[in-house]
Amino acid sequence: MGRRLRRLIGTAWAWDSALTVPGGADVSLGAVTHVGVRADRTRRGVLSTLMRAQLTDLAERGAVAAGLHATEAAIYGRFGYGAATLGRDLRIQRARARVRDDAPAGGRVELHDLDGLIGRVPEVYPRAATRPGMLARPDAWWGMMRSHLTRPSATRPQGVTHEGPDGIDGFAVYTVERTKGDQAKLTVVDLHTANTAAAAGLWRYLLSVDLVDTIEAALRPVDEPLDLLLTDPRAVSTTDLGDDLWLRLIDVPAALAARTYGDEQLVAR
Ligand SMILES: CC(C)(COP(=O)(O)OP(=O)(O)OC[C@H]1O[C@@H](n2cnc3c(N)ncnc32)[C@H](O)[C@@H]1OP(=O)(O)O)[C@@H](O)C(=O)NCCC(=O)NCCS
Repeated sequence: MGRRLRRLIGTAWAWDSALTVPGGADVSLGAVTHVGVRADRTRRGVLSTLMRAQLTDLAERGAVAAGLHATEAAIYGRFGYGAATLGRDLRIQRARARVRDDAPAGGRVELHDLDGLIGRVPEVYPRAATRPGMLARPDAWWGMMRSHLTRPSATRPQGVTHEGPDGIDGFAVYTVERTKGDQAKLTVVDLHTANTAAAAGLWRYLLSVDLVDTIEAALRPVDEPLDLLLTDPRAVSTTDLGDDLWLRLIDVPAALAARTYGDEQLVAR
C-alpha cells in the first residue's frame, strides 16, 4: 500500500499576548497572524477548519479573546471577529509643522540602529502601550519585527529613544526614502510614548530630520493629540481612518468583567 504524501496547504498562527481593556487591566489574548491557504487549495473550507481548530485551542489555553489585523475585511466576520479599534493614517507637511513652544521639552533623544533599539525598548513598551485595545508584545514579537523591517526589499529602519528623568520613556522606528525628484518621505513605522514629554520630544525630533518633505504614519491612535502639539494643526491631514484591531471574544464573562469605568465594573448575569 502506497503512503499518502502530506503537504502543508494552510497556516494560522497565534502568539500568546494580552489585550489592554478599558480601565487598564489586561486579558490574555491569542494574537493571530500568518493566515493563509495555498492558492490551489482555496475555497474548499481550509480556512474555516483552521479557524475552528485555532479558536478551540485558544479556548483550551484560557485565552479570553483572539485578535488580528485583517488584510481583507470581508473574511473574519463569519468567524465571530469584529473591528474593535480604529486607526488614523496621517500625513504631515514638514515645512508647516512646528511643535508649540509651550510643549514639554528637556528630554534627551538618541539615535540607534534597529538592534540597538530592540535591545533597549521591550521593557519600555508596557508603560507606553496603555490605551485600551493595545496588545502586549512577547519577546518573539520583537524578533518578528526585526525580520520584517530588515527583509531584503525594506528601506533601512532607524530607531530613536526619548529619555526623561526616569529613563527611556518613549521610542520610534522610522525610515526615510526619496520618492520622486528631490522629494523625500519619512515614514513612522512604530512610535510609543509613556507621557506627553516623550511624545513632544519624539515628534519634535521627527519633524526636524533634515531633507524631508512629508512625514507619514499609519494606524495611529485616533486620540493621539499630535495636531494640538503643533503651532499649525492643519499641517497634519488625516489620509485614512480605518479598522485596526479585529477582536473575537472567547470568554465573554471574563472579557466584560475585566473592564472598569472608574469604580464601576460590568458583570455578566
Ligand atoms: C483568504 C483565505 C485565507 C481563505 O481561505 P479558504 O480556505 O479559501 O477559505 P474557506 O474555503 O474556508 O472559506 C470560508 C468562507 O470565507 C469566504 N471567503 C474566502 N476567501 C474570501 C475572500 N477573499 N473574500 C471574501 N470571502 C472569502 C468563502 O467564500 C467562505 O464563505 P462561506 O462560509 O459563506 O462558504 C485564502 O484565500 C488565502 O490564503 N488568501 C491569500 C492570503 C490572504 O488573503 N490571507 C488573509 C489575510 S487577512
